[in-house]
Amino acid sequence: EDRNMAVVTCSAPVNIAVIKYWGKRDEEAILPINSSLSVTLHQDQLKTTTTVAVSRDFKEDRIWLNGTEDNITHPRLQTCLREIRRLARKRRNSGDENCNTFPTVSYKVHICSANNFPTAAGLASSAAGYACLVYALAKLYGLEGELSEIARQGSGSACRSMYGGFVQWVMGEKTDGSDSIAQQIKPESHWPELRVLILVVSAERKPVGSTTGMQTSVKTSPLLKHRAEKIVPERMKEMTEAIQCRDFESFAQITMKESNQFHATCLDTFPPIFYLNNISRRIINLVHKYNSHHGETRVAYTFDAGPNAVIYTLHQHVEEFVEVVKHFFPPEENGGHIRYGRPRYPPPPL
Ligand code: PMV
Repeated sequence: EDRNMAVVTCSAPVNIAVIKYWGKRDEEAILPINSSLSVTLHQDQLKTTTTVAVSRDFKEDRIWLNGTEDNITHPRLQTCLREIRRLARKRRNSGDENCNTFPTVSYKVHICSANNFPTAAGLASSAAGYACLVYALAKLYGLEGELSEIARQGSGSACRSMYGGFVQWVMGEKTDGSDSIAQQIKPESHWPELRVLILVVSAERKPVGSTTGMQTSVKTSPLLKHRAEKIVPERMKEMTEAIQCRDFESFAQITMKESNQFHATCLDTFPPIFYLNNISRRIINLVHKYNSHHGETRVAYTFDAGPNAVIYTLHQHVEEFVEVVKHFFPPEENGGHIRYGRPRYPPPPL
């Protein structure tokens, strides 16, 4: 064993919220104004792969994102590094026998992280990224237990990617954020028929990032305040029930209403924020027409901070719905409006 160097590689999938997080009550600690709920995708879908290495020979902390060196001084990145190192020191000093004493916490770290999908296009890249980083560092130092609190401080939605399946992020009440954590409601195996499709409308970086977008919304949107206080608490209960009973009809309807209300609060923000484009809106119409044609809710859409559609459906409807999408958005004619098949970036070699 090389006692001078330690390396860990991990992958974390993205999560797609069905009850949306939008707005912080504390910018520094990343505490939300409402609870949220998401589905973590499968490991072989959209994911981040991160390698962390510590060595006696490294002179400074460094990070590479998708192959290019990035700024290690990013405040949220620094927070995650600091918190993990603090936990590692604490456990070591407590004399816990099950705790690794190697690697030494004072060694500098090199981080290498890559997504197998477009970064910052509103496909929750930061969620998978920070979850993966925190998890990999925890493995490196042999840490266990509640880590979603640290991932949350990288990117709010990242705390939900620390668990698989159906996950809630409880907003919490405390000012130190210790009760603002992610919890698994049900594992992925609870609902094996559920499927997720991603319709990549645009792989470009989003015009307004979630951090600034949320700040402006919290400051200016009365609808957001109403939603956080009066609407979300009820929907959290309904959605949890729908998941527990595998009631797709309710699950799908709440999901679509949540997406629409989130984008309504963006429009209610001043100046307004537009994440949806004409293709997004055509997809919304298509889903509603498809469902009413069948006289039941077979498909649901949801959109985050970008124009790309995420579709929830059940396995028996996937084939037909994909055919319908292909019919209305023919791959040859749409100039690449929607791409099919493999993700854009090959995953990095391990
Ligand atoms: O974690 P952030 O800061 O990237 O915010 C994510 C916000 C949404 O994706 C729009 C909603 C959500 O709950 O994931």
